Amino acid sequence: MNKYNICLLKGDGIGPEIVNEAVKVLDCVADKYGFQVNYDEALLGGSAIDAKGTPLPQETIDKCKASDSVLLGAVGGPKWDKLPGKERPEAGLLGIRGALGLFANLRPAVIFEPLKSASPLKDEIIGDKLDVMVVRELTGGIYFGERGRREADGEVEAYDTEQYKVSEIKRIAKVAFEMAMKRNKKLTSVDKANVLEASRLWRETVIEMSKDYPEVELNHLYVDNTAMQLVINPGQFDVILTNNIFGDILSDEASMISGSIGMLASASLSDSSLGLYEPIHGSAPDIAGQNIANPLATILSVAMMLKYSLNEPKAAEAIENAVNKVLAENRTPDIYEEGKNKVTCSEMGDLVCKALA
Ligand code: NAD
Ligand code: IPM
Ligand code: MN
Repeated sequence: MNKYNICLLKGDGIGPEIVNEAVKVLDCVADKYGFQVNYDEALLGGSAIDAKGTPLPQETIDKCKASDSVLLGAVGGPKWDKLPGKERPEAGLLGIRGALGLFANLRPAVIFEPLKSASPLKDEIIGDKLDVMVVRELTGGIYFGERGRREADGEVEAYDTEQYKVSEIKRIAKVAFEMAMKRNKKLTSVDKANVLEASRLWRETVIEMSKDYPEVELNHLYVDNTAMQLVINPGQFDVILTNNIFGDILSDEASMISGSIGMLASASLSDSSLGLYEPIHGSAPDIAGQNIANPLATILSVAMMLKYSLNEPKAAEAIENAVNKVLAENRTPDIYEEGKNKVTCSEMGDLVCKALA
């Protein structure tokens, strides 16, 4: 029997609530498909600050490295918002991405059939099917560039630096081209090459790499136009390749294609088989502790883990099918529509397990 060691980073806010449901589902699917999952837990973000005085304890890095895969809830919240940048919960998240070398972040914006009417986009804009894969660079760019404050002309100036090496662009572009080859062979590289030097290098490098992928239809869009195109004609996109900060923003926007930010899963991948899986949303402090968060983004992140790290594709597909089935009648408040059953976070986890049986 295959055995997997999963490190859980439940995090803050709704983090523990949604991870508990995802674990419930992973246990159900493990039973059904005959593999075993062992869990370890580690602290990240605000909970780590409170317990250990740092958002990313060394023990957390060690436990993640010793595992087959990592499942993360979300970090952050108002309690820690006044801390200096390097001490904030979010610094822990960036730190673990860097420490594990998780340069490739896959964020699939898909619409589940029963949720078509829950999307804020009109039916004619959604069309038959929407399936956009955002490939976001995750360990470079302005998130990891030099930042600070200095005196300038007698006042305080703050700066953050957008920077990319050719090798960093190449390795993420490779992931996106390979992804496009497995899908509809269409790749849109998103940048701001009309203004930013880092974007001009990005575009040049992507064009150079496209020679290795003659079958992939490549186009380039500026990020501002992309933001608009995503809501007026999302069907034009297959794979979107972009940098760290544009990918962050565009994936929240793309999540509304799927009906709610509570639906969008993600995989953060490295050069090794170790991956980290997390919903794209945050710790949602406004609804934490009420058992009303949508756990499906985290449950679908488990499906991505089974597909990309654990080589259990049948189990991954079973979760996606179960989610589709459950959504026909049951909704958490964020995707609620009249005539459906309004369910809690934990009921949603139970329903997915039941649908798997
Ligand atoms: P957020 O994603 O936490 O919340 C935005 C809105 O979406 C809120 O109204 C929230 O209630 C709703 N929402 C989010 N997830 C939901 C879910 N699963 N079900 C139902 N509704 C959901 O973004 P924010 O409010 O800008 O940030 C809150 C905190 O989370 C901040 O500290 C931020 O830094 C952090 N954050 C962390 C991550 C992460 O850990 N990966 C991601 C984004 C934001
Ligand atoms: C995300 C989040 C993080 C990011 C923050 C919390 C550091 O918004 O995972 O999308 O910007 O990458
Ligand atoms: Mn984000």
